[in-house]
Amino acid sequence: MATRVGILTGGGDCPGLNAVIRAAARRSLVRGYEVVGVREGWRGLVDGRVVPLGPREITGILPRGGTILGTTRTNPYKVDGGVDAVLRNFGEQGLDALVAIGGEDTLGVAARLHAEHDFPVVGVPKTIDNDLSATDYTFGFDTAVSICTEAIDRLHTTAESHNRVMVVEVMGRHTGWIAVMSGIAGGADVIMIPEHPITVEEACKEIQARHRRGKDFSIVVVSEGYRLTFASGEQREVTQEVPLDQFGHVRLGGIGEALAQEIEERTGFETRVTVLGHVQRGGSPTARDRILATRFGLKAADLVHEERFGRMASLQGNEIEDMPLADAVAELKTVPPHWYDVARAFFG
Ligand code: F6P
Repeated sequence: MATRVGILTGGGDCPGLNAVIRAAARRSLVRGYEVVGVREGWRGLVDGRVVPLGPREITGILPRGGTILGTTRTNPYKVDGGVDAVLRNFGEQGLDALVAIGGEDTLGVAARLHAEHDFPVVGVPKTIDNDLSATDYTFGFDTAVSICTEAIDRLHTTAESHNRVMVVEVMGRHTGWIAVMSGIAGGADVIMIPEHPITVEEACKEIQARHRRGKDFSIVVVSEGYRLTFASGEQREVTQEVPLDQFGHVRLGGIGEALAQEIEERTGFETRVTVLGHVQRGGSPTARDRILATRFGLKAADLVHEERFGRMASLQGNEIEDMPLADAVAELKTVPPHWYDVARAFFG
């Protein structure tokens, strides 16, 4: 039976991490387990850095954004001797089980460690991007969508006053979940996402048609992973000129500016850009995310208790279930056409 449980948060932070830590730790402590926090994601296990997680440490953290454990994008498979160090430190710290809270990268490492070394790990699906398979929703996503929706609402009034086109760039990496959901909630006039890339020309046509109908402002929501797509078939990805991270990801960002230039040139309408950036990941989680994170945390503690390693807490409809970690990271969960159709019904 697991007696000493570690909890780790990896990858980009997101609102609700502390709620998971609190719930998983609390249920484990009640069962008489000892709980420790691993510092800064997989880096903490590579370096052997853990901190106690007792009742005092987890008090008052439910509404707090970020993670009290810190996080990094460390990939032990890309660090010299990283995997051996993880296994050694896990043993030396006297750990019997690990709760890994993360997205495709963190959970990808967890799944691989479990498959290759029978590592006793369970997962919790985290990311504002909502791009993890094997769960209907990840926690953190609802908060990000709420922040973007509020921003779109605010941009409406200034767009209207100045007769401008406002381009709002949101995160989401290679999926358009945040753009589609906040665009629907905020009443965007055009939404551009990687999965269903409408062309720049189509977007301009929607804006022009709208203006012909007497509306003199437009809100365009663009997902950072959208590739500038033209009627000619040309596609251009906009990325930052920095090295890939340890998981091989490019750093996205900048599509808003590139798109705004195209729209202004083609339509002649004055266009401005807002890049919401890390504001989308900051601050307190919504009530919905706190509840989801809490349910996930309890489920993770139960999976540890039942020694059902290699599994991940998962939302299926309204129920918390569990799924194989390997399924969660097998492929990205992209926005299906029927969701984009909902958004599209309000274009122009
Ligand atoms: O995966 C979450 C996310 O916020 C993405 O939407 C975004 O592309 C990326 O992380 C940004 O990463 P960083 O915090 O390293 O700039």
